[in-house]
Amino acid sequence: MTTLQETNATPTPATGDGSPEWRSVRLEVLDQVEDLPSFNSVVLEFMEVTRQEFFSAKDFEAVICKDQGLVARLLKVANCGLYGRSRTIGSIPEAIVLIGLDNLKRIVYAVSSQGLMTRQMTHYGYHEDQGFWMHAMAVGQAAKILADACPDSGVHGEEIFISGLLHDIGKLVLDGFLGQRPHKQVSCEMERSAVGLDHCELAGHILKQWNIPASITAPIAFHHDFAAGGEYLKSAAVLSLARGVCSEWGVGYQSPLDLSWEVPHDKFAAEMVQIGLTADRWPGVVWNIQQSLAGLEDLFANT
Ligand SMILES: [Fe+2]
Ligand SMILES: [Fe+2]
Repeated sequence: MTTLQETNATPTPATGDGSPEWRSVRLEVLDQVEDLPSFNSVVLEFMEVTRQEFFSAKDFEAVICKDQGLVARLLKVANCGLYGRSRTIGSIPEAIVLIGLDNLKRIVYAVSSQGLMTRQMTHYGYHEDQGFWMHAMAVGQAAKILADACPDSGVHGEEIFISGLLHDIGKLVLDGFLGQRPHKQVSCEMERSAVGLDHCELAGHILKQWNIPASITAPIAFHHDFAAGGEYLKSAAVLSLARGVCSEWGVGYQSPLDLSWEVPHDKFAAEMVQIGLTADRWPGVVWNIQQSLAGLEDLFANT
């Protein structure tokens, strides 16, 4: 199955001609960026900690415990039955031991991005109000698995997870500028024609405002054109591949989640060469991504 929600192929003429009307729409869009709520400061600090090479459970706990509301929500999800625990988890250290740091990190990002990313958009074709959120989490998880599978690429797994989580964030603002008529397949060219910039560029403006570092924002700028990624070519290739695989399964665009479709590697040959992923390893890596995404709907149902 091929879903085309993120295609670059729609041949729409670019009208970014610098005319006064066009420039004023672009300015209006950039103005809206300031109104977009940020992640809370504890989560931004958490992102910073997880980017460090030696990141321990104690570091995790020290940051998360600054926000007791977040701790309460984390523990609620950790206890929801998803992780098969027979006894109640009462604290973050206990949760780290019982469900693991990786699961807990995933819950932090799911819980903290819920408010920002749960919304019904008119355009782009996401499924109801949770589709965009699910797509973001899935691309983040897939990107981390790809980076971890290709250590020689030098792409940092935690950083590329965050890039994946935030890769389409520009759409949250652009959706309000693309007209009232619902449109399921919005290409970057269509965005540029309508408002003078696409969601890749707009993400850069949003994330700069949140002080997110370039190593996370740069691959986002090229996730629909990784070959132009320059010094971030490899991380852009990982992100492009992750969103391509998730789009093959329609993650975020339909419900229930169906990961049974075969994902042909030849569609992604250019990205795979860049990150050193050979065809013989493809089935194993895809299987790991499937395992990781399989619990997403349950996680969301309990968040
Ligand atoms: Fe995407
Ligand atoms: Fe995108």
